[in-house]
Amino acid sequence: MIHSFAKHPLLLLTLLCFVFSSCSARTVKIGDICSKHNNPSICNAIILSVPGANQGVDIDSVSLYLINMAHVNAFDTITLISEIIGNSSDPQTNQRYSSCTMDYTDVLLALTQAKESYSSGNYGDMNSNGAVVTKDVKDCDTKAYDSSQIRNNNQYLADFSMIIMILADFLAGKY
Ligand SMILES: *[C@@H]1O[C@H](CO)[C@@H](O)[C@H](O)[C@H]1NC(C)=O
Repeated sequence: MIHSFAKHPLLLLTLLCFVFSSCSARTVKIGDICSKHNNPSICNAIILSVPGANQGVDIDSVSLYLINMAHVNAFDTITLISEIIGNSSDPQTNQRYSSCTMDYTDVLLALTQAKESYSSGNYGDMNSNGAVVTKDVKDCDTKAYDSSQIRNNNQYLADFSMIIMILADFLAGKY
């Protein structure tokens, strides 16, 4: 297999492009991304946590990685919310947190759509999907006023989604 690919450099290149979906590798400095974020230092820390990130990052692979990470975070928060509901016997509390679960179900959907938008090159949609995530976690925040843990998670995810929106704008060629 490797043999025949090696004989066809173009085919090999096409395969690599497909696998990493980053052929037009667009490298951007982290500082240029995070200067557009409302919390540049958190933005820096989040992007630097991506394996292989240093001062410059490939915006394609970073976008995909961060969308996946946001998805995992959202899923963990849903688990935490279920635990709060399971621990509480107060109907009003349970109602508030059930409503947060619905916000987060919408977050998962928006992140799935962000990934699809990214894959199909609809960067405008990818930006809108990020905005939906921001709105959903804000909605949950108003109901989760008595859980600092959930509110921290909400803030973290809002920070993530702002990066995803900025990356979408870079991918769309706005910067
Ligand atoms: C739920 O209750 C258990 C047992 O008291 C406790 O260990 C856990 O931290 C609680 N979880 C939350 C999210 O409050």
